[in-house]
Amino acid sequence: MTVFSAIDFDRHEQVNFFYDEETGLKAIIAIHNTNRGPALGGCRMWSYTDEQHAITDVLRLSRGMTYKAAMANLPFGGGKAVIIGDSHRDKSPALFRVFGQCVEQLNGRYITAEDVGTSVEDMVFIREATNHVVGLPGGSGDPSPFTAIGVYESIRSAALYRLGKSSLKGVKVAVQGLGHVGYHLCQLLADVGADLFVTDIEPELVQKAADEFKATPVSLEEIYGIEVDVFAPCALGAVINDQTIVQLKCKVVAGSANNQLENPAHGELLAKMKILYAPDYVVNAGGLIDVYYDGPAYNPDIVKVHVAGIHDTLLDVFHKAEELRISTSEAADLIAEERFRLNSDPLLK
Ligand SMILES: NC(=O)c1ccc[n+]([C@@H]2O[C@H](COP(=O)([O-])OP(=O)(O)OC[C@H]3O[C@@H](n4cnc5c(N)ncnc54)[C@H](O)[C@@H]3O)[C@@H](O)[C@H]2O)c1
Repeated sequence: MTVFSAIDFDRHEQVNFFYDEETGLKAIIAIHNTNRGPALGGCRMWSYTDEQHAITDVLRLSRGMTYKAAMANLPFGGGKAVIIGDSHRDKSPALFRVFGQCVEQLNGRYITAEDVGTSVEDMVFIREATNHVVGLPGGSGDPSPFTAIGVYESIRSAALYRLGKSSLKGVKVAVQGLGHVGYHLCQLLADVGADLFVTDIEPELVQKAADEFKATPVSLEEIYGIEVDVFAPCALGAVINDQTIVQLKCKVVAGSANNQLENPAHGELLAKMKILYAPDYVVNAGGLIDVYYDGPAYNPDIVKVHVAGIHDTLLDVFHKAEELRISTSEAADLIAEERFRLNSDPLLK
């Protein structure tokens, strides 16, 4: 088992291992960087095949949160927690209370939230042991509509930059995945007259989008190869891979799914193919921005204004990539690193 020599170790400030015999809790909390503020990131519960996979996941995900928060202009650093266990079998209120005590020991350097395998209800038990938890019931609620607004703004930004279009009327968009984010996105796009092509593994969602937004249903395989302006992956990660990239006939890739590129080389390949890639962690930050404003003074209009800023952030990314002749993913990383390594954001002064 390695940490410092693990391939995903990237100058993480702190990696904490917790064990509790009574509840069986085995948790790892990684704090990647706190230059901009406390490390925020969800708590994932997953049956990892071995401990090294859990370490890899927590190192990679916590690093990603630093970049996401910096690009969203939030006064947060990046962190993440993983609980090793089966979320259907091994969960208990006591386990989450003990996990809350672990978070509390970090004195506010890490703030937790729900993630894959944990729920709003689990956060309530964590809250019994610590204040450093967000996303409780009765708060701002489901962040997906704000994530969808961020994706919509990203598509507007990319359409302006790549297609020279200031309106999305008649712009063809293929949406993969009609879940919490994808369906909201379709609504926003349909409202401004975009031409939609949709797919999902759930046929009734496809039918609903066809009825409600006059979207054209396409099969799960066809979605990559249809001639559209924008491909919006809103289902799974790693959908831009060796098998799919050769099929793409779009001019832009902009969607909510995390880790869309199977590996960084696919970002460079998209650039060579003159397909403008809007980096996923810039595009999908709307939910995180929403979480930031959660609290007694919560005002969705303020959240909307902040999320709309993703439009201009992406334009900066596109211009930087062009200027330095690098991929848009590399350009986004550079801008994020300037922000969190130098701690130079005006919000933080
Ligand atoms: N919800 C948020 O606020 C948020 C924030 C950041 C990132 N994301 C990411 O965005 C993506 C979508 O999130 P969500 O909350 O809408 O999830 P969701 O589970 O509500 O929706 C995903 C949809 O994709 C469909 N799907 C699954 N496999 C598919 C396939 N092979 N082809 C086509 N459709 C498929 C599912 O049936 C489902 O309808 C995820 O990758 C998630 O990690 C979401």
